[in-house]
Formats: sequence, C-alpha cells, structure tokens
Amino acid sequence: MKAATLLSLMGAALLLAGQAVAAEAHKTPTAPADFLSKTNPIKADEADEATLKEGGKIYTKKCGKCHGETGDGKGSAAGELVIKPTNLSAPGYLAGRKDGQLLWITMNGSPNTEMKAFGPGSEQNYSEADLWKVITYMRSAFTK
Ligand code: HEC
Repeated sequence: MKAATLLSLMGAALLLAGQAVAAEAHKTPTAPADFLSKTNPIKADEADEATLKEGGKIYTKKCGKCHGETGDGKGSAAGELVIKPTNLSAPGYLAGRKDGQLLWITMNGSPNTEMKAFGPGSEQNYSEADLWKVITYMRSAFTK
C-alpha cells in the first residue's frame, strides 16, 4: 500500500472516530426557564381536524425527511447525519417533554446539529402559532 493511501485511510478513520465522539458527547440543550414554562395554547382535546391537518402538512414538508413520517427519527436524510434526529415516537418521549422545550428547539434549532431554526426571523420563518400546530400534530400522531 502506498504511503499516501495509508495516510488518507488513517485520516478517514480519525474523522469517523471524531464524529462518533462528537455524537456521543452531544447533549440536547434544555430551553431557558421562560420558554420551559410556556404551554401550547391549543389544548390537546380541543385540537380540531383543520389544526391537525395544518400541523401535519408542515411536519411532512419540513420535518419528515429527518424525523420520519412516523416520527421514528429515520427519515430519508437521517442516515448521513452525525447527530441523529430525535426519535419522537419513542415510548414516553413526547409525554416526558414539555411543550416549551419542543417549541424552543423548533423555533431556535439546536446549535452544532442539523436541527435548524424554524421560528420567526429564521430562514423558514414560521410563526409561533404555526409551530404550536406542528407540536399539536406531533403529540397527536406520535405519542406512545
Ligand atoms: C435536517 C434534519 C432535521 C430536520 C429537517 C428537522 N429536524 Fe428536528 N432534530 C434534528 C436533529 C439532528 C435533532 C437532535 C438535536 C439535538 O439533540 O441537539 C433534532 C431534534 C428535534 C427535537 C428534540 C427536542 C428535544 O428537546 O428533545 C424536536 C422536538 C424537533 N427536532 C422538532 C423538529 C420539527 C418540528 C421539525 C420541522 C419543523 C424538525 N425538527 C426538522 C434534525 C432535524
């Protein structure tokens, strides 16, 4: 084997190891207190058909490629990501997450991951009201 080939193989191995460490060391950040205390203005038992449909539409268009159509975190784009999309349908996951946490990360994204900001002023520029619809949809469709 040529030295250059060997070197590039070693480089690739180091890069992979580095990514594995980065993924392992990553902790999903927690929303600040003023966000954590926010609650969804759409009450789960009052969510009408239209709200769920609108939330579902945004989810399918903007979130499904990473988080998966069924919320399992295995969307078509998930494979190549170092830090994997959260499995939203894992048993107990959504039940254990506060509305404010879900809103905060959806609005602002998660630094150093592919989870980008979707809130007002971001490239995606969804209103808080729209993102509450997405959260309503996710809770309705994925809670286990
Ligand atoms: C390009 C891939 C990608 C897309 C598109 C994406 N996400 Fe994510 N999402 C991620 C990754 C990666 C994480 C893990 C972030 C972390 O752990 O810090 C994540 C984490 C999350 C979390 C977990 C928050 C927590 O505290 O547990 C929620 C909720 C979420 N995303 C919602 C959404 C919603 C809603 C959309 C669409 C509006 C969306 N994501 C679109 C990649 C994506």
